[in-house]
Amino acid sequence: MSKFEKFIPQMRPLFGIEEKNELLDYLEEDGFFTEFKKTEEFEKAIANFVGSKNCIVVNNGTISLTLAALALGVGPGDEVIVPNYTMIATPNSIKMIGAVPVFVDVEPSTLIMDVELARLAITSKTKAIILVSANGRSPKSGINAFELLSKETGIPIIEDAAQSLGSTYFDGRHIGRAGLIASLSFSAPKIISTGQGGALFTDDDALAEKLRKLKDFGRSSGGTDVHDSIGYNFKFTELQACVGLAQMRQLKTRIERKKQIFKRYMLGLHNVNEISLFSHDLNLCAPWFIDSRVKEREKLVLFLKNNQIGTRIMYPPINQQKAYGETGSYPVSEEIGKSGLWLPSMIQLEDDQIDYICNKIKDFYA
Ligand SMILES: Cc1ncc(COP(=O)(O)O)c(C=O)c1O
Repeated sequence: MSKFEKFIPQMRPLFGIEEKNELLDYLEEDGFFTEFKKTEEFEKAIANFVGSKNCIVVNNGTISLTLAALALGVGPGDEVIVPNYTMIATPNSIKMIGAVPVFVDVEPSTLIMDVELARLAITSKTKAIILVSANGRSPKSGINAFELLSKETGIPIIEDAAQSLGSTYFDGRHIGRAGLIASLSFSAPKIISTGQGGALFTDDDALAEKLRKLKDFGRSSGGTDVHDSIGYNFKFTELQACVGLAQMRQLKTRIERKKQIFKRYMLGLHNVNEISLFSHDLNLCAPWFIDSRVKEREKLVLFLKNNQIGTRIMYPPINQQKAYGETGSYPVSEEIGKSGLWLPSMIQLEDDQIDYICNKIKDFYA
């Protein structure tokens, strides 16, 4: 059977022998499974990679945002500015604690929150801004424009860098390092995965301390039942950390492969006017997914599916999701809701599969 008779999924996590060996080695030990030494090692590996003083891992990249907001004192009725184009986890994370997401449209070329619209959305109730680095990109306005806004208004920025591990700003800082706190996700489609998982990083030691307590019942110190604050249980497991450590060792090669995949799609599709890939500066960015605007989206999706190629419709505008059902005008995210499409983007995608996908897209529009 040719590899093209096998369905090419839009995404699939990649776990192999390294993960298996880490897990087997751990199982040989007298382990508790719950977070301990391996988790600390994983946190250190992430902190080193992103260049942050503190890293705290939690059980997913949604609760991490909730904890970041809680640590900053966001509470019921407070407003938090979020982009209208993002995974729904971003607004839901603060909805969970009774805060109110205020939607702002995004830049057409990067799908990142428009800084001037964010400025206009600020009220006396605004307690935080969640900046989402869509697909590892930086804002076209420049990250400094957000830093300036935060400085001028005193409103902290939480960076939702769930899609951005391996991507940096123009000045070499890892994405997430411009905010007071940043969040990562290790869910199945991410560049590295622990099945589920999330991480927070910050240089602020007091905030890090708060975050550690929030995820561990408000314990005064590990292994005791003395509690000086309210906290919950959003801890990680050593099994996930074993997988995460093995994945971290592959991160550099994965970043390179993500860049090569994007380059090959660019080459294959550059002369097809009906599809345009969002551009990336590959000196800075490891594109997480291949995101595109396409003509005749529904027909193309069906055609590709019939040719064993998986795709995924990009996020609809959040305000129009039934869960929110808010009116308002958000032209960029509304347009993406009609034309945005993710092409197969997994690490294990082979060059000849990319060529096949590009050729099928050409056949469709021919
Ligand atoms: C931008 C963004 N924020 C938050 C999340 C939520 O992360 P998780 O699935 O780990 O809860 C995701 C990913 O799924 C995401 O893409």
